[in-house]
Amino acid sequence: MRAVDIIIKKRDGGVLTDEEIRYFIDAYTAGEIGDDQAAALMMSIFFRGMDYDETTALTLAMAESGKQVDLSGIKGVKVDKHSTGGIGDKTTMIVGPITAACGVPVAKMSGRALGFTGGTIDKLESIPGLSTSIPIEKMVEIVNDTGICVAGQTLELAPADKKLYALRDVTGSIESIPLIAASIMSKKIAAGADAIVLDVKYGSGAFMKTKADAKALADTMCGIGEKAGRRTVAVLNSMEEPLGMCIGNTIEVKESVETLKGGGSEDLKKHCFELAAHMISLGLGIGFEEAEAMALKSVEDGSALRKFAQMIKVQGGDPSVCDDPDAALGIPKYSYVIRAEKDGSIEKCDAYSIGMAAYALGVGRTSLKGKIDPRAGVKLIVKSGVDVKKGDGLCVLYSDSPVSEEAIERASSAYIYR
Ligand code: URA
Repeated sequence: MRAVDIIIKKRDGGVLTDEEIRYFIDAYTAGEIGDDQAAALMMSIFFRGMDYDETTALTLAMAESGKQVDLSGIKGVKVDKHSTGGIGDKTTMIVGPITAACGVPVAKMSGRALGFTGGTIDKLESIPGLSTSIPIEKMVEIVNDTGICVAGQTLELAPADKKLYALRDVTGSIESIPLIAASIMSKKIAAGADAIVLDVKYGSGAFMKTKADAKALADTMCGIGEKAGRRTVAVLNSMEEPLGMCIGNTIEVKESVETLKGGGSEDLKKHCFELAAHMISLGLGIGFEEAEAMALKSVEDGSALRKFAQMIKVQGGDPSVCDDPDAALGIPKYSYVIRAEKDGSIEKCDAYSIGMAAYALGVGRTSLKGKIDPRAGVKLIVKSGVDVKKGDGLCVLYSDSPVSEEAIERASSAYIYR
């Protein structure tokens, strides 16, 4: 078999066989096929798509490209969660501790920023000292001791996805249903959880722009999950506006702590409690409403915040983040307030434009080995439905280097008046 023939077949709209997909993924993982040919295949799939059987074959080949995690050493039903990526999506830092505080073990592998969307690992690593490079055996030990561990996708787990994910990020081939489904489900299947809750976003700030595409992605992923013997539930969520009020790395850690203390914006709280309730319900085998009540209680009684502090400490980070986030995470050197140009009512704070502003500030990577600015970010002062007067602050841009014109333009254009 030759990689170039497989690329040409897909480029011309052909349907790949299991053997062709398996050969390509195995050879790419082994370094026998280079990034050039892999990028060409990804772009061909992006334009030509894949049918359900091809997507399942791609998922399984990627899941089996590395180690299959055995979580049987952890007591209880292990429930994983995955978001398809959005703007201001800090749910893992809130939902993980809530779920663990309610007695459901959380052994979670998360990703880095991708394109204009953030990544949980970059957010967590903005906490001084915190490490997400945790070998699987150690992760099992930590979850048995504390109930929660959030680790970066190790090289051992779905290495084909790790390479392809980074490659797609810098070659414009992210927004494809089969590629996203295979990427997410390969990691989830390899990560060994018994049940999976998928948080599928749609709208301007998501990879899926329409609800119909998000539904198609959710259905594809649920089908693959069930085929692999994992109970899989998907929740669809709008990403027309950012989730919560903060977008960035340290800034989202701060908002997560505030939410675990019972504060935070209503949209963020509502979404987190819904996800946590699904995880608790699957983990404990109880009804959704009972699970939701448990989730609410864990925030009210402080056990979820204590769980987050414990998780940070065990992973080597500074748990004082949960007491005084500004002191532990620092304040960015530069800030710039975007102000209303006129009196009016805000119809929308566009998630994509805010995501691009955050990207221009340094929140994400622009190349494979690029660095991020952990303190860069956007803090929204208002979102839709708010009346403003000319000169009122709409949002604040933060960075450790001078705020760029591009970021200012992107953030200003995010606000659409009625
Ligand atoms: N999240 C993933 O894990 N993979 C994708 O391809 C997109 C979002």
